[in-house]
Amino acid sequence: MSVIYLAVGSVTGTAVAVANAVREHLQQAGHQVIQDEQPSVAALNNSAADAVLICTSTTGRGDLPAAIAPFYAELEQQFPLQNGRPFGVISLGDSSYDATFCGAGALLEERFLELQGRQPVPRVTIDATETVTPDDDALFWLQEWTEKAL
Ligand SMILES: Cc1cc2nc3c(=O)[nH]c(=O)nc-3n(C[C@H](O)[C@H](O)[C@H](O)COP(=O)(O)O)c2cc1C
Repeated sequence: MSVIYLAVGSVTGTAVAVANAVREHLQQAGHQVIQDEQPSVAALNNSAADAVLICTSTTGRGDLPAAIAPFYAELEQQFPLQNGRPFGVISLGDSSYDATFCGAGALLEERFLELQGRQPVPRVTIDATETVTPDDDALFWLQEWTEKAL
């Protein structure tokens, strides 16, 4: 059994729905999931998590949703080294935004790599123009991630 801190960033709820599916799947496999829709470094530190998952959409022009933007800033300010703790990023976006496609997930991926997190599986990008089942896409990716991260 592992403890997973699941940080969520969403504007209109799609990433929350995906995170809910991810949480339920992990719980059914016997893991403990701390799902946080207003993530913070303090909550991450308090969670004593074995692994970190980030599930975020992108807004504006490659921007982080307002609920997860403070977490990103805190990660830079407080610089909580991850010391090889596994993480994974589920990144939602829309490829019609071209250069900023899934930009928020890319930012958080970069930050966790800077903090010396271990990324056993590359970030998954879920394109709203390509799929009507984002939760299924995330669960497919999650299978490999759980095998390698937990
Ligand atoms: C105002 C607005 C701006 C967006 N900007 C981007 C963007 O820059 N890059 C991207 O990949 N997707 C962008 N998207 C698409 C969303 O990330 C995508 O639809 C996602 O599935 C929404 O998830 P949510 O409901 O959890 O916020 C934007 C959507 C809206 C409504």
